[in-house]
Amino acid sequence: MSEQTLFKVTVDNITIEVPAGTTILQAARQIGGAVAPPAMCYYSKLQGSGGKCRTCLVEVSKGSEKDPRPMPKLVASCRTTVMDGMEVKNITSEKVVEARAGVVEFLLLNHPLDCPICDQAGECHLQDLSFEHGKSGTRYEFQRRTFKKHDLGKHIQLHMTRCILCYRCVFTADQLTNKREHGILDRGDHAEIATHIEKSLDNEFIGNVIDVCPVGALTDKTFRFKNRVWFLKPMDAHRDCPSCSGRVTLWNRGDEVYRVTARKDQWGEIEDTPDGKPGWICNTCRFDKKQATDWVIEGPREISRQSVIAQGHYAGNIGTTIPTETFAAINNGRTPHLLMDIHNESEVNQPNVHLGENEGPSNGTTFNNNIKNA
Ligand code: SF4
Ligand code: FES
Repeated sequence: MSEQTLFKVTVDNITIEVPAGTTILQAARQIGGAVAPPAMCYYSKLQGSGGKCRTCLVEVSKGSEKDPRPMPKLVASCRTTVMDGMEVKNITSEKVVEARAGVVEFLLLNHPLDCPICDQAGECHLQDLSFEHGKSGTRYEFQRRTFKKHDLGKHIQLHMTRCILCYRCVFTADQLTNKREHGILDRGDHAEIATHIEKSLDNEFIGNVIDVCPVGALTDKTFRFKNRVWFLKPMDAHRDCPSCSGRVTLWNRGDEVYRVTARKDQWGEIEDTPDGKPGWICNTCRFDKKQATDWVIEGPREISRQSVIAQGHYAGNIGTTIPTETFAAINNGRTPHLLMDIHNESEVNQPNVHLGENEGPSNGTTFNNNIKNA
């Protein structure tokens, strides 16, 4: 077997050796932590991704050992391969920090600030990016873009105003399904994700576009408006699925399964299965298996302590048990003089309504129908 050529590269003063052909972004990810530039369009599991959003810009202060001249402009680290002896600055470069703030400002020009009602809130890469690299104000004075509504079928909701045109969903549909029916139409300010003739995307693997979308432009209709992600407990689970790996993360509240997603790694990308293939999941696992009994639960999913999703995880309540009564616990052991049961007083929030099993967002009718049928 021929020996692999290794190149020495230094990113933010940390040196590692990587195989020739590795991109700066992948080399920085091998170092990890804040050294790795953010990436809104690159997705290692999708061929051809990257080079669209410019959030991964870095400064190359030394081109290589043979030609030490710095690169004249900042480069997209997801599309630039390392050279032997290359020196790269990411967070240690003032130019990069300033440019990234500008990129965030551009991405937010047309993006609505509807995080309080967006299902992606809490796991949105643009939210994280603007928190870490953005500015608090905008200089944009014009009306934001609006779009004609497109129906992408019964499982996937498109909010075009939130789309940052990263192309990840287009590559996913192209590379995972045998008939892509959507793409980016038009150019410039008019560019939009659409199915052109509003065909539904009914391929068995099309649900994966929800997982790759870095923002809330593509969301799961079976989960919309049902819960905030930080109130749910992510649990690793698997089932014997004939179409996909069947390895998923269940997003539970008590015993109810609210949402099923593929497992994601620290970069927010689909995790590989033990046999080294990307763990894409099928629509049946994602949209139809919403009973805890459909799954073999492996245990709580490890998530970063920095993530807002970590907020809902109190010690002692890990698992799929229904949360315990907390009133006395937070009231120094005293029970209240008067405690009304919401179910006796109101027609909403009925315990016999399993929100995780409803098709589409729940509203007053969900509860009213259930009361009539009870
Ligand atoms: S819908 Fe989401 S994944 Fe598709 S291009 Fe827009 S932001 Fe990217
Ligand atoms: S991640 Fe490199 S340009 Fe988008």
